[in-house]
Amino acid sequence: MTKGPVIAIDGPAGAGKSTIARLLAKELDLVYVDTGAMYRALTLKALEEGRDFTDEGDMAGLLECTKVEFRPGLAGQAEIWLDGREVSQDIRSPSVNRWVSQVAMHPAVRRQMARLQREIALKGGVVLDGRDIGTYVAPEADVKFFLTADFAERVRRRHKELNEKGFDLSLEEVSSEMAQRDQIDSGRALAPLRQAPGAVLVDTTNLGVEEVLHLVLARSREALSHVV
Ligand code: CDP
Repeated sequence: MTKGPVIAIDGPAGAGKSTIARLLAKELDLVYVDTGAMYRALTLKALEEGRDFTDEGDMAGLLECTKVEFRPGLAGQAEIWLDGREVSQDIRSPSVNRWVSQVAMHPAVRRQMARLQREIALKGGVVLDGRDIGTYVAPEADVKFFLTADFAERVRRRHKELNEKGFDLSLEEVSSEMAQRDQIDSGRALAPLRQAPGAVLVDTTNLGVEEVLHLVLARSREALSHVV
């Protein structure tokens, strides 16, 4: 039995990963898996329960009794479910943005998450996006991308996105949240944000969605044509 391909897309916030991963999956008829949503769902639960994000044991224990699922939603978009309720919108709030990297930095949390994500990757036929897919979760992926963009541009995009969702944040607030998240994600002990060996680097600062998709699609088709 041949399993479908695995495509890894990593990079910092606001580089365009989720938009591109979703479109790429659609073009290639693969399933899109947003690994950040899993960390976000756990963070939402920790916020709601008033937990201590800095307590690694508590966060890992919480994950053990938490069920995060991707369920097919409308228009082919996967919905994120946390313990039986849909949280796709709730996990994108500024308070989750503020704490998610603190939760995701704990090795005991990451090991459990990576195990769940590897189970998904092993089945194949997926595009996974995150911070450590090409380096840690699925280093054997058939194609790997590292999407990035200038800091100011990433802040501008995230600010626009949050404002469109009705969150009235200043550019300065988004900028400081993102700088802090970049720093924690890149500096953590286990599986920090890095470009994986062999990953194709795409700087999206001056590129539109269509241009990035075109590039990523072409590289994927080329790489996958060598995979039997
Ligand atoms: O959409 P955005 O890039 O802002 O974030 P995301 O992909 O939803 O990820 C949110 C946070 O989860 C990141 O800032 C990381 O702290 C963490 N994360 C991670 O550690 N490893 C992953 N594979 C995915 C996300």
